Amino acid sequence: MRKKIVAGNWKMNNSLNETINLINDLKQNVGRTDVKVMISPSFPFLKTAVDQLKDVNIEVVAQNINDNKSGAYTGEVSTDMLKSVGVYTTLIGHSERRAYYHENDELLLKKINLALESNLNIIFCFGEELKDRKSNSHFDIVKSQLDNTVMKLDAKSWQKIVLAYEPVWAIGTGETASADQAQEIHEFVRNYILEKFSHKIANDLSIIYGGSVKPSNAVEIFNKKDVDGGLIGGAALNSNDFIQIIKANN
Ligand code: 13P
Repeated sequence: MRKKIVAGNWKMNNSLNETINLINDLKQNVGRTDVKVMISPSFPFLKTAVDQLKDVNIEVVAQNINDNKSGAYTGEVSTDMLKSVGVYTTLIGHSERRAYYHENDELLLKKINLALESNLNIIFCFGEELKDRKSNSHFDIVKSQLDNTVMKLDAKSWQKIVLAYEPVWAIGTGETASADQAQEIHEFVRNYILEKFSHKIANDLSIIYGGSVKPSNAVEIFNKKDVDGGLIGGAALNSNDFIQIIKANN
């Protein structure tokens, strides 16, 4: 079933105390909502977040996984470790992972396959860089990012996937894709999935938008018919802003 989602990617921010305070604010103030709310603190705080949110309808999500099941990979975190602390969803393919840690499509496909084998849900991020948009190749880039990864999956795997369109030029820059620019890519992606898989898979898939979403622009973006919510960076670090963004998706 297609869901409305607002997910906060906290990236490498917040101490333990700040994490707990932010979670407490959300617990007290998110209230009843049809939106699926998710937060993604850093690895050291996942277990605390899961414990704090035990009776609350806010899901805790990992920001990354390693592409191996276990073993001698110093500094890395496995899918089984995440499950053992109660985390059942992970981001894969965030543009910061692609840019700073050289994660290419081949590695991302390995991560996707391992996450699915481990029965984790995935929020798969994709999106073009500024140069791609300037050269009008954004559709081709997006298509190739998907072709090399999620398009290789079998039909039943799509139940475990949410897609997040995050144009790199709009992340943390204050420059948001216009609601029409987001809708255009989301519609293109949904149609492509319809063509390659089925109407049901395309229609059931949540495709969320990320890149400088704020309380002031969230309503307009979320109102677009193929935008099912947002993956929020900076604004998710402020509980008031994050809650306003959740409300914008009601
Ligand atoms: P900003 O909302 O800070 O632009 O970050 C978006 C993002 O990268 C979420 O994953």
